[in-house]
Amino acid sequence: MVTFAPQSLSLHQTESTLALGRWLGERLTAGTVLLLQGDLGSGKTTLAKGLGQGLGITEDIDSPTFTLISEYLGGRLPFYHVDLYRLEGKAVDNLYLETYWDGLEFPPGIVAIEWAERLRHLPPAPLRVALTHRDGGRHVVLAPADVTQATLLETLTPDALLVDEV
Ligand SMILES: Nc1ncnc2c1ncn2[C@@H]1O[C@H](COP(=O)(O)OP(=O)(O)OP(=O)(O)O)[C@@H](O)[C@H]1O
Ligand SMILES: [Mg+2]
Repeated sequence: MVTFAPQSLSLHQTESTLALGRWLGERLTAGTVLLLQGDLGSGKTTLAKGLGQGLGITEDIDSPTFTLISEYLGGRLPFYHVDLYRLEGKAVDNLYLETYWDGLEFPPGIVAIEWAERLRHLPPAPLRVALTHRDGGRHVVLAPADVTQATLLETLTPDALLVDEV
């Protein structure tokens, strides 16, 4: 199996996490599934908000903790935002999330799954995004699963996420 080098970055403040999401949202190709992993409050929803901004979605993106899945169709690509925090086991299977990436029911877009650790069946070639708390900010490791993702992530430098320090 071919593996691709992961990319690590420090995210010093909320605006940096948003900037990473925006950078990805502007560039990811249709059908990309992001597995957002990380503890409570590690920045998964913040990253999803940035993804929405990068996709050109003007609606506010909230945590779908109770709705489980939110669909936003107003951007460059459809954006499907999933939060598995309240679910486990068979209840996760019963969401039939594969309908968001198999192209049979929904038009292909970007899928972002919070608490992706709870998935029992992984999508093909997911982009793993692991967030951790570090020094008051966050650290992120992005692990590409195919050559398209790897090539894109090679162009992601800390400069791309420069924000005014507050
Ligand atoms: N890089 C960062 N540095 C400091 N704070 C951040 C950073 N990124 C996000 N935050 C802050 O962390 C808090 C939690 O963020 P967020 O809700 O995105 O986390 P989450 O992982 O979705 O949480 P949950 O596990 O509850 O779903 C927010 O107040 C957000 O502003
Ligand atoms: Mg969240």
